[in-house]
Amino acid sequence: MAEELFSAAVRRSTEGRHRDAEQAVFLGQLVTGALPLAGYAAMVAQHHHIYSVLEEAAAVMRDDPVAGPFVHDGLTRLPALEADLRELDGAGLPPSPATQRYTQRLRDVCFTWPGGFVAHHYTRYLGDLSGGQYIAAAVRRHYTTSATSFYAFDGIGSPAAFKARYRSALDAAPWDQEERRRIVDEVLVAYQLNIDVLTDLGREHAAGQAA
Ligand code: HEM
Repeated sequence: MAEELFSAAVRRSTEGRHRDAEQAVFLGQLVTGALPLAGYAAMVAQHHHIYSVLEEAAAVMRDDPVAGPFVHDGLTRLPALEADLRELDGAGLPPSPATQRYTQRLRDVCFTWPGGFVAHHYTRYLGDLSGGQYIAAAVRRHYTTSATSFYAFDGIGSPAAFKARYRSALDAAPWDQEERRRIVDEVLVAYQLNIDVLTDLGREHAAGQAA
């Protein structure tokens, strides 16, 4: 049997955690329009805290021979998040406890470990280019057509082609089996941190739910 590509292994090894993220109560209520607009604003505020650190790391890692090829100006989300937050009147909302753990983890691994940076980069940006587009359509339908620039990737060409190139870059990176295992483990951590952020958001904003 042909050896499994790394991009396929990452996806396969993390699909259970992806399903848990996708099924977060908060996201379910967001896409059906059951949340108050303040719930959406709170999510954008958490994203703002998270991408501030992730994109600070990207600025450092863009010169790294292994992580650098994953960094792309067209992915940068911080200016869009700032614009969306201004419009939603959400600037200044503090990070939740889960967001603080997430940003601490980003600080711990993304500035010095190229594979760890790629694990976190992959989890957010490939998600934003996939399920994120579905979330955006629902938010535009139920809440706001304008404060969704976070989901509009204008500088990368076709999202499907971009994701295919991204997966090829994962397959081409010079990581041995041990490093690949560590990266998959870090993607699992990244998913869990996202689930925790969504759980905090659900506790605060989802109707009739503990999480
Ligand atoms: C409503 C919630 C969500 C839906 C409906 C959804 C749906 C999807 C779909 C259909 C794909 C496959 C796209 C493709 O093959 O091109 C995908 C991929 C992905 N999603 Fe989600 N997703 C959701 C939430 C999330 C969350 C919260 C995260 C993590 C922050 C996430 C991270 C990812 C990643 C990293 C991929 C790429 C997997 C790969 O091909 O390697 N998703 N999502």
